[in-house]
Amino acid sequence: MGFRTRILGAAAGGGLPQWNCGCGNCRRARAGAIAAQTQSSLAVTANGRDWAILNASPDIRVQLAACPALAPTGPREVPLRAVLVTNGDIDHVAGLLTLREMQPFKLYATAGIHEVIAANPIFAALKSDMVRREAVALEAAFEIVPGLRATLFPVPGKVPLYLEGEVVETRAMGEQTVGVRLDAGGLTAFYVPGCAALTGALAARVEGADLVFFDGTLWTDDEMIRLGLGRKTGGRMGHMAMSGPEGSIAAFAPLRIGRKVFVHMNNTNPVLDPGSPERAEAEAAGWIIGQDGMEITP
Ligand code: MLT
Ligand code: MN
Ligand code: ZN
Repeated sequence: MGFRTRILGAAAGGGLPQWNCGCGNCRRARAGAIAAQTQSSLAVTANGRDWAILNASPDIRVQLAACPALAPTGPREVPLRAVLVTNGDIDHVAGLLTLREMQPFKLYATAGIHEVIAANPIFAALKSDMVRREAVALEAAFEIVPGLRATLFPVPGKVPLYLEGEVVETRAMGEQTVGVRLDAGGLTAFYVPGCAALTGALAARVEGADLVFFDGTLWTDDEMIRLGLGRKTGGRMGHMAMSGPEGSIAAFAPLRIGRKVFVHMNNTNPVLDPGSPERAEAEAAGWIIGQDGMEITP
């Protein structure tokens, strides 16, 4: 049993279907015509016994129940050792509240993200003698679970929606939005569920990786506006779109990567419908469309 990854949730904040959304995909998911997807989270292990979860989504309770590898192994024993969050967004931290039942694990994030969590007293429900909060420096590799090294690095992004002020820098580089590099047994994977742009430095970083999970929030930048579902572009939300000359499919095309997997798909994204031409286009470009429960070995 070596390096394994399992997509616990492939959808962006809101999930598919989203409670208040009547878009085409949400209606099809409610009708059972396309698969429902839970919110953004990835489980990883290097030995099959000790697991880390990257991002704690509000759906974590059902995600854990659906994952035999993460089931309790004793009266109060679980294979979950660590949780790492890549930003302070609600879809990535709200699940921490579900993990409050006197269970020890380590909570890893940058100091900047830990500050956001610490500023919210509800997270004191995670008792400090049970849940050790470890601040991780950017670019410093650490062993997140036995045999698996993780390195956090900044990606263009913004502060969480609930902390936005009058002026929002949507491509800020720092501790607020990070990607994760994972190394085990000579294999390298990257997890980048939110990213506003694939900079040259980021492209150089992921070049040659065995596996990349990448921000698949939207197909087109103005998708939410055109569907009458919102006023924001993907760029304004800190997410690059898949399609078009500025999109992630074009940006990754010249890179040599073993497998490329889209995660964090918004429910409006047409690739979530297996019958869509957009799905066919993304797959023809070498992308896998992530879905709940998908296990991928790097
Ligand atoms: C995002 O990925 O843009 C955020 O999760 C949005 C949100 O917090 O609802
Ligand atoms: Mn999100
Ligand atoms: Zn919808």
